[in-house]
Amino acid sequence: MPNCTLETMTKTYHYPVMYREIIKLLEPAKRKVVVDCTLGMGGHAGKCLELMGQDSHLIGIDRDQESLERARNNLKDFNGRFTLVKGDFAQVSRILDQLGLKQVDVFLFDLGISTYQLNDPQRGFSFLKEGPLDMRMDQDAFVSAYDLVNNLSEEELTVIFRKFGEERYARKIAQRLVAARRNEPIVTTTQLTRVIISALSVKFQHGRIHPATRVFQSLRIAVNRELESLREGIKTAVGYLSPGGRIGVISFHSLEDRIVKHTFRDYRSQGVLALITKKPLVPGDSEKEENMASRSAKLRVAEKI
Ligand SMILES: C[S@@+](CC[C@H](N)C(=O)[O-])C[C@H]1O[C@@H](n2cnc3c(N)ncnc32)[C@H](O)[C@@H]1O
Repeated sequence: MPNCTLETMTKTYHYPVMYREIIKLLEPAKRKVVVDCTLGMGGHAGKCLELMGQDSHLIGIDRDQESLERARNNLKDFNGRFTLVKGDFAQVSRILDQLGLKQVDVFLFDLGISTYQLNDPQRGFSFLKEGPLDMRMDQDAFVSAYDLVNNLSEEELTVIFRKFGEERYARKIAQRLVAARRNEPIVTTTQLTRVIISALSVKFQHGRIHPATRVFQSLRIAVNRELESLREGIKTAVGYLSPGGRIGVISFHSLEDRIVKHTFRDYRSQGVLALITKKPLVPGDSEKEENMASRSAKLRVAEKI
Protein backbone atom coordinates (compact mmCIF):
# COMPACT_ATOMS: atom_id res chain seq x y z
CA MET A 1 0.00 0.00 0.00
CA PRO A 2 1.26 3.50 -0.74
CA ASN A 3 2.58 5.64 2.04
CA CYS A 4 -0.14 8.25 1.78
CA THR A 5 -3.48 9.20 3.15
CA LEU A 6 -6.65 9.35 1.14
CA GLU A 7 -6.14 13.10 1.12
CA THR A 8 -2.87 12.86 -0.80
CA MET A 9 -4.29 10.54 -3.43
CA THR A 10 -6.16 13.26 -5.28
CA LYS A 11 -5.33 15.92 -7.79
CA THR A 12 -6.25 19.41 -8.83
CA TYR A 13 -7.20 20.96 -12.14
CA HIS A 14 -4.20 23.27 -12.21
CA TYR A 15 -1.76 20.48 -11.80
CA PRO A 16 -2.88 17.23 -13.39
CA VAL A 17 -0.71 14.39 -12.19
CA MET A 18 2.30 13.48 -14.42
CA TYR A 19 0.91 15.54 -17.27
CA ARG A 20 4.35 16.08 -18.82
CA GLU A 21 4.88 12.31 -19.05
CA ILE A 22 1.33 11.89 -20.38
CA ILE A 23 1.94 14.47 -23.12
CA LYS A 24 5.30 12.98 -24.03
CA LEU A 25 4.15 9.36 -24.21
CA LEU A 26 0.58 9.72 -25.52
CA GLU A 27 1.55 12.41 -28.06
CA PRO A 28 -1.86 14.13 -28.33
CA ALA A 29 -0.46 16.57 -30.91
CA LYS A 30 -0.43 13.89 -33.59
CA ARG A 31 -3.75 12.20 -32.71
CA LYS A 32 -7.21 12.57 -34.16
CA VAL A 33 -9.39 10.95 -31.47
CA VAL A 34 -8.46 11.07 -27.77
CA VAL A 35 -10.67 9.57 -25.05
CA ASP A 36 -10.13 10.75 -21.48
CA CYS A 37 -11.99 8.08 -19.50
CA THR A 38 -11.61 9.94 -16.18
CA LEU A 39 -12.27 13.55 -17.08
CA GLY A 40 -12.46 14.92 -13.51
CA MET A 41 -11.98 18.68 -13.65
CA GLY A 42 -10.62 18.40 -17.20
CA GLY A 43 -6.97 18.95 -16.23
CA HIS A 44 -5.41 16.33 -18.49
CA ALA A 45 -8.06 16.94 -21.15
CA GLY A 46 -7.12 20.64 -21.25
CA LYS A 47 -3.42 19.84 -21.59
CA CYS A 48 -4.21 17.47 -24.49
CA LEU A 49 -6.56 19.92 -26.22
CA GLU A 50 -3.90 22.65 -26.08
CA LEU A 51 -1.77 20.44 -28.32
CA MET A 52 -4.34 18.67 -30.48
CA GLY A 53 -5.02 19.93 -33.99
CA GLN A 54 -8.25 21.71 -35.00
CA ASP A 55 -9.38 18.61 -36.89
CA SER A 56 -9.08 16.35 -33.84
CA HIS A 57 -11.60 15.63 -31.10
CA LEU A 58 -11.53 14.70 -27.43
CA ILE A 59 -14.17 12.60 -25.69
CA GLY A 60 -14.31 13.13 -21.92
CA ILE A 61 -16.06 10.53 -19.76
CA ASP A 62 -16.89 10.73 -16.07
CA ARG A 63 -19.54 9.10 -13.96
CA ASP A 64 -19.87 12.19 -11.77
CA GLN A 65 -22.30 14.71 -13.23
CA GLU A 66 -20.95 17.62 -11.16
CA SER A 67 -17.41 16.97 -12.36
CA LEU A 68 -18.59 16.97 -15.96
CA GLU A 69 -20.21 20.37 -15.45
CA ARG A 70 -17.08 21.80 -13.89
CA ALA A 71 -14.89 20.33 -16.62
CA ARG A 72 -17.20 21.80 -19.27
CA ASN A 73 -16.60 25.21 -17.77
CA ASN A 74 -12.85 24.69 -17.38
CA LEU A 75 -12.59 23.59 -21.03
CA LYS A 76 -14.75 26.32 -22.55
CA ASP A 77 -11.84 27.77 -24.54
CA PHE A 78 -11.90 24.55 -26.57
CA ASN A 79 -15.64 24.52 -27.26
CA GLY A 80 -16.53 22.53 -30.36
CA ARG A 81 -13.47 20.29 -30.04
CA PHE A 82 -14.69 18.00 -27.28
CA THR A 83 -17.70 15.92 -26.29
CA LEU A 84 -18.46 15.12 -22.66
CA VAL A 85 -20.41 12.03 -21.66
CA LYS A 86 -21.68 10.84 -18.30
CA GLY A 87 -20.95 7.18 -17.82
CA ASP A 88 -18.82 4.45 -16.33
CA PHE A 89 -15.73 3.78 -18.42
CA ALA A 90 -16.57 0.08 -18.09
CA GLN A 91 -19.23 0.94 -20.67
CA VAL A 92 -16.89 2.82 -22.98
CA SER A 93 -17.97 0.51 -25.82
CA ARG A 94 -21.60 1.69 -25.59
CA ILE A 95 -20.45 5.32 -25.38
CA LEU A 96 -18.19 5.06 -28.44
CA ASP A 97 -20.84 3.17 -30.43
CA GLN A 98 -23.38 5.90 -29.69
CA LEU A 99 -20.89 8.48 -30.94
CA GLY A 100 -20.28 6.37 -34.05
CA LEU A 101 -16.57 5.96 -33.27
CA LYS A 102 -14.90 2.75 -34.43
CA GLN A 103 -11.29 3.58 -33.55
CA VAL A 104 -9.53 5.69 -30.95
CA ASP A 105 -5.91 6.91 -31.01
CA VAL A 106 -5.44 7.56 -27.29
CA PHE A 107 -7.13 6.35 -24.11
CA LEU A 108 -6.24 7.95 -20.79
CA PHE A 109 -7.27 6.66 -17.36
CA ASP A 110 -6.34 8.72 -14.25
CA LEU A 111 -7.90 6.57 -11.56
CA GLY A 112 -9.53 7.35 -8.23
CA ILE A 113 -11.31 10.52 -7.16
CA SER A 114 -10.54 14.19 -7.62
CA THR A 115 -9.73 16.79 -4.99
CA TYR A 116 -13.07 18.33 -5.74
CA GLN A 117 -14.89 15.09 -4.82
CA LEU A 118 -12.70 14.45 -1.79
CA ASN A 119 -13.04 17.93 -0.38
CA ASP A 120 -16.81 18.07 -0.59
CA PRO A 121 -17.98 16.73 2.80
CA GLN A 122 -21.38 15.88 1.31
CA ARG A 123 -19.79 13.22 -0.88
CA GLY A 124 -18.56 11.28 2.15
CA PHE A 125 -15.14 10.31 0.76
CA SER A 126 -13.02 11.88 3.48
CA PHE A 127 -12.50 10.62 7.01
CA LEU A 128 -11.30 14.12 7.90
CA LYS A 129 -14.60 15.81 7.10
CA GLU A 130 -17.96 15.20 8.71
CA GLY A 131 -20.46 14.12 6.09
CA PRO A 132 -22.96 11.45 5.12
CA LEU A 133 -21.54 7.99 4.51
CA ASP A 134 -21.99 8.13 0.75
CA MET A 135 -18.83 7.61 -1.39
CA ARG A 136 -20.71 7.16 -4.68
CA MET A 137 -18.84 8.68 -7.61
CA ASP A 138 -22.06 8.50 -9.59
CA GLN A 139 -24.71 10.17 -7.48
CA ASP A 140 -27.41 8.25 -9.36
CA ALA A 141 -25.96 4.90 -8.27
CA PHE A 142 -28.10 2.80 -5.93
CA VAL A 143 -25.59 1.57 -3.38
CA SER A 144 -23.73 3.89 -1.01
CA ALA A 145 -21.19 3.26 1.74
CA TYR A 146 -24.05 3.63 4.22
CA ASP A 147 -25.78 0.59 2.68
CA LEU A 148 -22.65 -1.57 2.89
CA VAL A 149 -21.65 -0.52 6.39
CA ASN A 150 -25.12 -0.98 7.85
CA ASN A 151 -26.28 -4.09 6.02
CA LEU A 152 -23.38 -6.40 5.20
CA SER A 153 -22.47 -9.22 7.57
CA GLU A 154 -19.32 -9.19 9.67
CA GLU A 155 -17.82 -11.73 7.26
CA GLU A 156 -18.63 -9.66 4.18
CA LEU A 157 -17.21 -6.48 5.73
CA THR A 158 -14.05 -8.34 6.75
CA VAL A 159 -13.56 -9.50 3.16
CA ILE A 160 -14.01 -5.96 1.80
CA PHE A 161 -11.58 -4.40 4.30
CA ARG A 162 -9.03 -7.14 3.66
CA LYS A 163 -9.36 -7.43 -0.11
CA PHE A 164 -9.74 -3.80 -1.11
CA GLY A 165 -7.94 -2.10 1.80
CA GLU A 166 -5.33 -4.74 2.67
CA GLU A 167 -6.33 -3.86 6.25
CA ARG A 168 -4.52 -5.99 8.83
CA TYR A 169 -7.25 -5.56 11.42
CA ALA A 170 -10.13 -6.21 9.05
CA ARG A 171 -11.84 -8.76 11.29
CA LYS A 172 -11.54 -6.66 14.47
CA ILE A 173 -12.90 -3.56 12.76
CA ALA A 174 -15.80 -5.47 11.19
CA GLN A 175 -16.68 -6.99 14.56
CA ARG A 176 -16.65 -3.59 16.23
CA LEU A 177 -18.74 -2.12 13.44
CA VAL A 178 -21.41 -4.79 13.66
CA ALA A 179 -21.57 -4.30 17.45
CA ALA A 180 -21.77 -0.50 17.13
CA ARG A 181 -24.56 -0.51 14.56
CA ARG A 182 -26.75 -2.58 16.90
CA ASN A 183 -27.07 0.59 19.01
CA GLU A 184 -27.56 3.04 16.15
CA PRO A 185 -26.95 3.08 12.40
CA ILE A 186 -23.57 4.39 11.22
CA VAL A 187 -24.64 7.46 9.30
CA THR A 188 -21.63 9.76 9.05
CA THR A 189 -17.97 9.58 8.08
CA THR A 190 -16.84 10.69 11.52
CA GLN A 191 -19.02 8.08 13.22
CA LEU A 192 -17.37 5.40 11.10
CA THR A 193 -13.90 6.81 11.81
CA ARG A 194 -14.58 6.71 15.56
CA VAL A 195 -15.66 3.06 15.37
CA ILE A 196 -12.54 2.13 13.36
CA ILE A 197 -10.24 3.86 15.85
CA SER A 198 -12.01 2.24 18.80
CA ALA A 199 -11.32 -1.21 17.31
CA LEU A 200 -7.55 -0.64 17.27
CA SER A 201 -5.16 -0.74 20.19
CA VAL A 202 -3.61 2.64 21.08
CA LYS A 203 -0.33 1.57 19.46
CA PHE A 204 -2.02 1.25 16.07
CA GLN A 205 -4.04 4.43 16.36
CA HIS A 206 -0.97 6.54 15.53
CA GLY A 207 0.67 4.84 12.56
CA ARG A 208 2.22 6.34 9.45
CA ILE A 209 -1.16 6.76 7.85
CA HIS A 210 -4.48 7.69 9.38
CA PRO A 211 -6.05 4.54 10.89
CA ALA A 212 -9.22 4.97 8.81
CA THR A 213 -7.36 5.20 5.46
CA ARG A 214 -7.60 1.54 4.43
CA VAL A 215 -11.21 1.01 5.47
CA PHE A 216 -12.30 4.16 3.64
CA GLN A 217 -10.36 3.11 0.56
CA SER A 218 -11.89 -0.36 0.64
CA LEU A 219 -15.44 0.94 0.98
CA ARG A 220 -14.93 3.39 -1.87
CA ILE A 221 -13.62 0.62 -4.10
CA ALA A 222 -16.55 -1.64 -3.19
CA VAL A 223 -19.24 1.04 -3.55
CA ASN A 224 -18.00 2.06 -6.99
CA ARG A 225 -16.95 -1.43 -8.13
CA GLU A 226 -13.69 0.24 -9.10
CA LEU A 227 -11.59 -2.82 -9.86
CA GLU A 228 -14.28 -4.49 -12.02
CA SER A 229 -14.67 -1.24 -13.97
CA LEU A 230 -10.93 -0.97 -14.44
CA ARG A 231 -10.57 -4.52 -15.81
CA GLU A 232 -13.50 -4.04 -18.16
CA GLY A 233 -12.51 -0.49 -19.17
CA ILE A 234 -8.94 -1.38 -20.15
CA LYS A 235 -9.99 -4.46 -22.12
CA THR A 236 -12.63 -2.59 -24.05
CA ALA A 237 -10.29 0.34 -24.70
CA VAL A 238 -7.61 -1.94 -26.14
CA GLY A 239 -10.22 -3.33 -28.55
CA TYR A 240 -10.91 0.17 -29.91
CA LEU A 241 -7.30 1.38 -30.16
CA SER A 242 -6.05 2.11 -33.67
CA PRO A 243 -2.73 0.51 -34.70
CA GLY A 244 -0.02 2.71 -33.18
CA GLY A 245 -2.58 4.15 -30.77
CA ARG A 246 -1.65 4.35 -27.09
CA ILE A 247 -3.28 3.70 -23.74
CA GLY A 248 -2.00 5.32 -20.54
CA VAL A 249 -3.15 4.48 -17.03
CA ILE A 250 -2.22 6.37 -13.86
CA SER A 251 -2.93 4.28 -10.78
CA PHE A 252 -2.69 5.22 -7.12
CA HIS A 253 -2.50 1.96 -5.21
CA SER A 254 -1.13 -1.52 -5.69
CA LEU A 255 -4.51 -3.17 -6.39
CA GLU A 256 -5.04 -0.93 -9.41
CA ASP A 257 -1.47 -1.13 -10.62
CA ARG A 258 -1.49 -4.93 -10.46
CA ILE A 259 -4.52 -5.07 -12.76
CA VAL A 260 -2.92 -2.67 -15.26
CA LYS A 261 0.39 -4.52 -15.20
CA HIS A 262 -1.14 -7.97 -15.73
CA THR A 263 -3.61 -6.87 -18.38
CA PHE A 264 -0.89 -5.11 -20.39
CA ARG A 265 1.42 -8.14 -20.06
CA ASP A 266 -1.30 -10.55 -21.21
CA TYR A 267 -1.92 -8.41 -24.28
CA ARG A 268 1.80 -8.21 -24.95
CA SER A 269 2.14 -11.98 -24.89
CA GLN A 270 -0.81 -12.23 -27.32
CA GLY A 271 0.97 -9.79 -29.65
CA VAL A 272 -1.73 -7.13 -29.22
CA LEU A 273 0.18 -4.48 -27.25
CA ALA A 274 3.81 -3.36 -27.00
CA LEU A 275 4.85 -1.96 -23.63
CA ILE A 276 6.10 1.63 -23.89
CA THR A 277 6.90 1.73 -20.17
CA LYS A 278 8.69 -1.49 -19.17
CA LYS A 279 8.38 -0.41 -15.54
CA PRO A 280 5.83 2.10 -14.30
CA LEU A 281 6.92 5.72 -14.38
CA VAL A 282 6.61 7.69 -11.16
CA PRO A 283 6.56 11.47 -10.69
CA GLY A 284 9.87 13.28 -10.29
CA ASP A 285 10.90 14.64 -6.89
CA SER A 286 9.89 18.19 -7.79
CA GLU A 287 6.36 17.12 -8.77
CA LYS A 288 6.03 15.07 -5.59
CA GLU A 289 7.14 18.07 -3.55
CA GLU A 290 4.86 20.51 -5.32
CA ASN A 291 1.88 18.18 -5.51
CA MET A 292 1.39 15.78 -2.62
CA ALA A 293 -1.40 14.16 -4.60
CA SER A 294 1.09 12.71 -7.05
CA ARG A 295 3.22 10.87 -4.51
CA SER A 296 1.80 7.39 -5.05
CA ALA A 297 1.11 7.74 -8.79
CA LYS A 298 2.33 5.11 -11.27
CA LEU A 299 1.97 5.54 -15.00
CA ARG A 300 1.97 2.64 -17.46
CA VAL A 301 1.68 3.17 -21.20
CA ALA A 302 1.25 0.62 -23.98
CA GLU A 303 0.86 0.81 -27.77
CA LYS A 304 -1.46 -1.17 -30.04
CA ILE A 305 0.49 -3.28 -32.51
C1 LIG B 1 -8.41 11.51 -10.39
S1 LIG B 1 -9.83 12.16 -11.08
C2 LIG B 1 -9.32 12.64 -12.68
C3 LIG B 1 -8.72 14.00 -12.74
C4 LIG B 1 -8.49 14.47 -14.16
N1 LIG B 1 -7.52 13.66 -14.85
C5 LIG B 1 -8.08 15.91 -14.19
O1 LIG B 1 -6.94 16.19 -14.62
O2 LIG B 1 -8.85 16.77 -13.79
C6 LIG B 1 -10.73 10.72 -11.46
C7 LIG B 1 -12.08 10.98 -12.05
O3 LIG B 1 -12.51 9.78 -12.66
C8 LIG B 1 -13.85 9.54 -12.37
N2 LIG B 1 -14.01 8.09 -12.41
C9 LIG B 1 -13.45 7.18 -11.61
N3 LIG B 1 -13.83 5.94 -11.98
C10 LIG B 1 -14.62 6.08 -13.06
C11 LIG B 1 -15.31 5.17 -13.90
N4 LIG B 1 -15.28 3.85 -13.69
N5 LIG B 1 -16.02 5.66 -14.94
C12 LIG B 1 -16.07 7.00 -15.17
N6 LIG B 1 -15.45 7.92 -14.39
C13 LIG B 1 -14.74 7.46 -13.35
C14 LIG B 1 -14.08 10.16 -11.00
O4 LIG B 1 -15.43 10.52 -10.84
C15 LIG B 1 -13.14 11.37 -11.05
O5 LIG B 1 -13.81 12.52 -11.48
